[in-house]
Amino acid sequence: MSAEKFLSAGARAMRSSLIRQLTGLVNRPDVISFAAGSPNAATFPHERFTEIYNDLTARERGRIFQYSVTRGNAQLIHAVCGRSREIKSIAASPEETILLSGSQQGLDFVGRVLLDPGDAVFVEMPSFIGATAAFANLGARLFGVNCDEDGMDIDHLARQAASARKQGLTPKFAYVIPNFQNPSGRVWSPARRRELYALAARENFLVFEDDAYGELYFDDAAPADLLPVKALDEDDRVIYMSTFSKILAPGLRVAWIHGPEAIVRRIEFCKETGDLCTATLSQRIVLEFLRRGEMPAQTDRVRAFYTGKAAKMRAAAAAHFDGLAQWTRPRGGLFLWLRLFAAIDTLPLLRESVERDKVAFIPGAPFFVDGSGSNALRLSFSNVSDENIEIGISRLSRRVRERRP
Ligand SMILES: Cc1ncc(COP(=O)(O)O)c(C=O)c1O
Repeated sequence: MSAEKFLSAGARAMRSSLIRQLTGLVNRPDVISFAAGSPNAATFPHERFTEIYNDLTARERGRIFQYSVTRGNAQLIHAVCGRSREIKSIAASPEETILLSGSQQGLDFVGRVLLDPGDAVFVEMPSFIGATAAFANLGARLFGVNCDEDGMDIDHLARQAASARKQGLTPKFAYVIPNFQNPSGRVWSPARRRELYALAARENFLVFEDDAYGELYFDDAAPADLLPVKALDEDDRVIYMSTFSKILAPGLRVAWIHGPEAIVRRIEFCKETGDLCTATLSQRIVLEFLRRGEMPAQTDRVRAFYTGKAAKMRAAAAAHFDGLAQWTRPRGGLFLWLRLFAAIDTLPLLRESVERDKVAFIPGAPFFVDGSGSNALRLSFSNVSDENIEIGISRLSRRVRERRP
């Protein structure tokens, strides 16, 4: 019997992302992989976690393994609101806040709360595939917006909004990652953030701001230009999302949203049927970690780790890709984005590079909703040793040189 005929129309339209399809190819143990975008496990504070776990289970016994409330642990929500006020200038109340089982869940839930099939969503080109897939699976029409080194081209965004309306579609939100974007590593300028907010207000759509990497800056102090769009929000227009995945550990699955109360309440409904609650144990570990005042030292350690890796990556790119490509000089995050000068399709290049050089990366095209970007590639420096960064980039540049027309 084929189960296919029982699938819903929505499920029939779902597609697995190319990145997932490439997993087998890029995760081979003998391959130097710049593909994996996950944080490096060496940055996870596992000894502190073990201490906290032992403490919690001794004190609370079985209760630490009980269900918890859907909205999230009230004390952790309070602590998250306090951190957002202090380090992000976001004034969000607990009523405007919900904890999530990772921010990927937020992408799905915000989509479910806001999108009817055919609604228009504006995304950067390139953008995060986990987000564009979530919105597309809900039947959204994705409008790609051109970007330069300062962020979205706001005039193009305005034209895309006009084009959506002309087609009878309702613009619902612009999804943006203004800090150390996945995949480009780009940081939006403060002016662009203001212009986005002003246009969204004028055109009356929402802003969905994903700040997964905002705390992973390489400077000694938090740069003032990272202030979120949400800090400008005066009329409940911005949904802000961030996560403990990149600064603590992604396996905890703890993230949060600050947004308009009406939207946060509906996200809570989604969560009731989605997973009931974020893992009680994970929430308590994060809360205890914050209470013990461990976070500043942890974020310093994580920043120092990636600052070193990014410096190696920049040096390797400068040594080997000069004249072959242009690339971003990341000031934070986990990625370096490369655009080859020659018209080389990086998808077949990946297969060749893995087979012949044992070097993997993620091809650029899947990050572009309009199908462009085939001569780009995303390189993550997160999980590659310093020595292999040099070896891998050198091999990759040789392959590109050979493939040049
Ligand atoms: C931009 C962005 N948003 C969200 C996520 C999801 O992170 P998590 O679900 O671990 O919070 C990622 C993960 O790579 C990401 O790059």
